Amino acid sequence: MGEMIAKTPPMGWNSWNTFFDKVNDELLCSVADAMVEQGLAAAGYQYLIVDDGWLARQREENGRQVPDPEKFPRGIEPVIEYIHKKGLKFGIYSCCGTHTCGGYPGSFEHEFEDAKQYAQWGVDYLKFDNCYRPGTTPSEVLYKRIAMALRASGREILLAACQWGTEDVHKWIRSSGAHTFRSTVDIQDSWNSISKIALSQMELQGYGGPDCFNDMDMLVVGMHGKGLNPETSVGGCTDTEYQTHFALWAMMNSPLIIGCDVRSMTEETKKILMNQEVIALNQDAAGHSCSKIPVYANPDVFILEKPLANGDYALGFFNFGDAKAKAVLNFWDLGLSTSSGYALEVRDCIAGKDIGVCREFLAPVVEPHGCMVYRCRLVKEG
Ligand code: GLA
Repeated sequence: MGEMIAKTPPMGWNSWNTFFDKVNDELLCSVADAMVEQGLAAAGYQYLIVDDGWLARQREENGRQVPDPEKFPRGIEPVIEYIHKKGLKFGIYSCCGTHTCGGYPGSFEHEFEDAKQYAQWGVDYLKFDNCYRPGTTPSEVLYKRIAMALRASGREILLAACQWGTEDVHKWIRSSGAHTFRSTVDIQDSWNSISKIALSQMELQGYGGPDCFNDMDMLVVGMHGKGLNPETSVGGCTDTEYQTHFALWAMMNSPLIIGCDVRSMTEETKKILMNQEVIALNQDAAGHSCSKIPVYANPDVFILEKPLANGDYALGFFNFGDAKAKAVLNFWDLGLSTSSGYALEVRDCIAGKDIGVCREFLAPVVEPHGCMVYRCRLVKEG
């Protein structure tokens, strides 16, 4: 205890986007297997999180939250043990209200006993939702309360506040003790949803940072319109759009929580989710948020800039328009004047290749709904 729990945005997998409330022992164990076998664990995805649907409809007579006996006939502990043996961490789901969003028993006024129970089971992460909250109790009090209960539980447990961005959450959440805060409505597997969420959080970039990151919701990368969740599975996206989604979440310091079925990923999905150069921008030790540089000639195009711990800069060029577009960045807009004698040595993180030294400007042509992501090093010339 005592160390920061979320130095960098948490990475993992969550059951909700693809499996809805259809979670069970076998599913979670087979996902754990796949996370290791497919290389996701080695790429940094360490949390396996069960979302809503794991609970029995009623608490036990003694007041304890218990898993649904049909979905988890052995109980939850052997599943957690299995996941830990795979070298992964386990995340669980509950809610600050009387019920979870799916109508299962929530933690309202059971916070301390539930937190103790999670600690005993070996839980490492708690996603704490915001449904069925008694109207008179401010969200802030309930997130503070669960944070306090987790601290008193005797185990280090990451608190992922699923607050949806209401009540100006970004202003008070850091002092509540939560490690991430959901800042948006639920994501859907569509370009419309991805682009809206990204744009809604641009101005709030300054609020997230080490030990309290802005959570823009789980990834839909690789879902391709599939899954059992009628709220999420609404058509799907192209791989270009999934790549852009991943690059945005990475640059904007969002947790990277996969939502597709990792047991059947396409090669392209794996390439996007396990691109170490893009992941490194998200997991950068400095945890700086990014800033948006508009391209005045084209309102559909913008650039994100993020200073990195080793002195490099990440630059993302995004095209939200429906036609190919040139995204011109004058280095002057980064603060770099021509007379400084510095230029940028540029590497394309998605293609994994060096571009060379660029002076004064960069102007890639970006596909519709596409992006370019560069890692740049300042170099002194002459
Ligand atoms: C809310 C959350 C989702 C998911 C569901 C579960 O809608 O925002 O992420 O956890 O509840 O019911």
